[in-house]
Amino acid sequence: MTQEQWNAVDDYVTGLLAPGDEALTAALRDSEAAGLPAIAVAPNQGKLLHLLARVQGARSVLEIGTLGGYSTIWLARALPPDGRLVSLEYDPAHADVARANLARAGLDPIAEVRTGAALETLPALAAEGAGPFDLVFVDADKRNNPHYVRWALELTRPGSLIIVDNVVRGGAVTDATSTDEGIVGTREMFDLIAREPRLDATALQTVGTKGYDGLLLARVIG
Ligand code: SAH
Ligand code: DHB
Ligand code: MG
Repeated sequence: MTQEQWNAVDDYVTGLLAPGDEALTAALRDSEAAGLPAIAVAPNQGKLLHLLARVQGARSVLEIGTLGGYSTIWLARALPPDGRLVSLEYDPAHADVARANLARAGLDPIAEVRTGAALETLPALAAEGAGPFDLVFVDADKRNNPHYVRWALELTRPGSLIIVDNVVRGGAVTDATSTDEGIVGTREMFDLIAREPRLDATALQTVGTKGYDGLLLARVIG
């Protein structure tokens, strides 16, 4: 298996089932023009997030890690007109690009980007009584994944869905001796979820234009 084959299959699937439109294309174009790293979810992954939000019947979504708002657009488009999405982003430059991309997509009435370190904006959200959110997408600094899952539990209800991106990282997740902060954080997160009776979870390995990685899904139970 080669990266070229993975790309060809992603292009095939995306072309038929997740072609995207002007707002999504422009979001990626303007993110690149602004110098943001090209680490948004792939189009077929964005479509998966959208479908999961629809299946979930989500009316409210919390995203941790906005970048240019590409995944945000896919998720916000799954919400009803009176739905609400809050996306948390550390970098003010990323947040500015994302807000412009969401406005162009017509999603600014329902999607809000909050700037700051998520470990500061999450307690603020909880303090103002936000939530419970029906779906949480965790996709920020991987070192803090265990903290983000703990906060996601605080801000959800039984039946909510928590999704975590980038949990495999080329297979490095199995390396118990890794000193990579992201791997250490992700492994702590797996241990936490395994021990947490309020979460029922699995993870899947993925290949595609984003290389070899994976996605974790956790359902909040009573
Ligand atoms: N979800 C996006 C990609 C997010 S990339 C998409 O798929 O389109 C990860 C983002 O998390 C980056 O924009 C980075 O600036 C942000 N980030 C990193 N550390 C953070 C923190 N402590 N709090 C909030 N956001 C953070
Ligand atoms: C990185 C972050 C992501 O969220 C992702 O999907 C891919 C790569 C990164 O920080 O390298
Ligand atoms: Mg990611």
